[in-house]
Amino acid sequence: MENLLNDVLGQGNNMALFNAAYFVAAILFIFSLAGLSKQESAEHGVWYGIIGMLIALTATILSPQVTNLQYLIIAMAIGGAIGVRFAVKVEMTQMPELVAMLHSFVGLAAVAVGYNSFLEHGELAGMMKSIHLVEVFLGVFIGAVTFTGSVVAFGKLRGMISSSPLMLPHRHKMNLLAGIVSFALMVYFVQQEGHMTSLIVMTVIALIFGWHLVASIGGADMPVVVSMLNSYSGWAAAAAGFMLGNDLLIVTGALVGSSGAILSYIMCRAMNRSFISVIAGGFGQEVTISSDQDYGDYVETSAEEVAEMLKNAKSVIITPGYGMAVAQAQYPVYDITKKLRDKGVNVRFGIHPVAGRLPGHMNVLLAEAKVPYDIVLEMDEINDDFDDTDVVLVIGANDTVNPSAAEDPNSPIAGMPVLEVWNARHVVCFKRSMNPGYAGVQNPLFFKDNSSMLFGDAKDSVEAIARAI
Ligand code: TAP
Repeated sequence: MENLLNDVLGQGNNMALFNAAYFVAAILFIFSLAGLSKQESAEHGVWYGIIGMLIALTATILSPQVTNLQYLIIAMAIGGAIGVRFAVKVEMTQMPELVAMLHSFVGLAAVAVGYNSFLEHGELAGMMKSIHLVEVFLGVFIGAVTFTGSVVAFGKLRGMISSSPLMLPHRHKMNLLAGIVSFALMVYFVQQEGHMTSLIVMTVIALIFGWHLVASIGGADMPVVVSMLNSYSGWAAAAAGFMLGNDLLIVTGALVGSSGAILSYIMCRAMNRSFISVIAGGFGQEVTISSDQDYGDYVETSAEEVAEMLKNAKSVIITPGYGMAVAQAQYPVYDITKKLRDKGVNVRFGIHPVAGRLPGHMNVLLAEAKVPYDIVLEMDEINDDFDDTDVVLVIGANDTVNPSAAEDPNSPIAGMPVLEVWNARHVVCFKRSMNPGYAGVQNPLFFKDNSSMLFGDAKDSVEAIARAI
């Protein structure tokens, strides 16, 4: 095929065509990111991404660098089949796990590309060789950190590894030491014009470092970890692009790396965490989880009582969380929203930036159920309105509405801004038990005088309320 293209177009035209295809793909990826930043344009964003990726893959497959097309096609067929199977099977609530797993593949690929590129560096000499060796070393380092970090993140999100932070003594010093030793190994590696043992020792250090970096982060801070690993995987891909001399991979990796870093920064701001300490890893603070504290009694309510309360309300705010996703309650939630709006009740949604298990999780679910965007407000836009609200429905949310974030400096979520639902006249909390949320801390909201608990699966409860209305 390549020869055919060369014959038809001539070598020079052929290269120009590949470069043009890469350029168009890069522009489409930028459009894709821009589109994905708003719900209204997200679908277009996805299409730009798909078309960009198709162009990029076609151009790469036909590029003169590819000599054994059959291997590439077999690998793509196997990888594609596994990818489609996973994507079709995965539940929305398992999405972060899938993303973490995919990041680990990017990291592993960068390590493999690094070793391959080291062993097959060809005729390079002098400065070019030194630059290439630095690329190899950094690519393998970032890839190895991303690989084990993502594996631990996957384990934590799936519940296979405890979500509480691993607090090894002197952990920050150990991280610093790993960084210094790796840097010294890089200098030696370049001085020796490629020294296999240094590369292997650094790979082992980077694998342990990546594992420790994420293991020492507590459950409540996992959203930042997921976006941070997203960023790392982008830089790992960019490093692989340098090693392979593939401009598009460099551009795409840099786009993913920087957008992941911006997302991490936004998450940090939303959770009131320091960005620098996140990048350095192990930022879980010393926290105490007290399980024997007496919070008092809670009050239980019924679907009929809640329906009555809602019918008499003028303003209602719904704050959904992970439980709404588990129960897939977004459709009946929109059903009661429509019923109440028809009765003249002002119904709005308050979305916490880390509600659920992935950025924008709640927005996606509500959009799926066709809830109009203009009644879905971000935490900052709605937090002052709870004072004037008659009823708040906390549907499967817990950490994101926990007053101890503001009131208890020892809480694992201390300092995280939360939806101040307790300022409303009545708060109804939908959940199945008194179990804590993701961060593993009890929620004093449930014991407040203006709160009542509606136990059961959120979908069943909301459907029962819809019937009663
Ligand atoms: P969580 O604190 O996780 O609480 C979810 C609540 O939903 C639980 O209290 C659970 O109680 C309830 N629930 C589960 N299944 C239910 C069902 N079928 N019906 C009714 N209730 C159900 O939720 P949140 O407020 O959304 O907070 C998100 C947490 O996840 C934060 O700590 C955040 O840091 C973390 N996190 C977020 C992300 C991103 S990027 N958003 C990523 C990783 C981690 P029961 O078991 O008693 O029913």
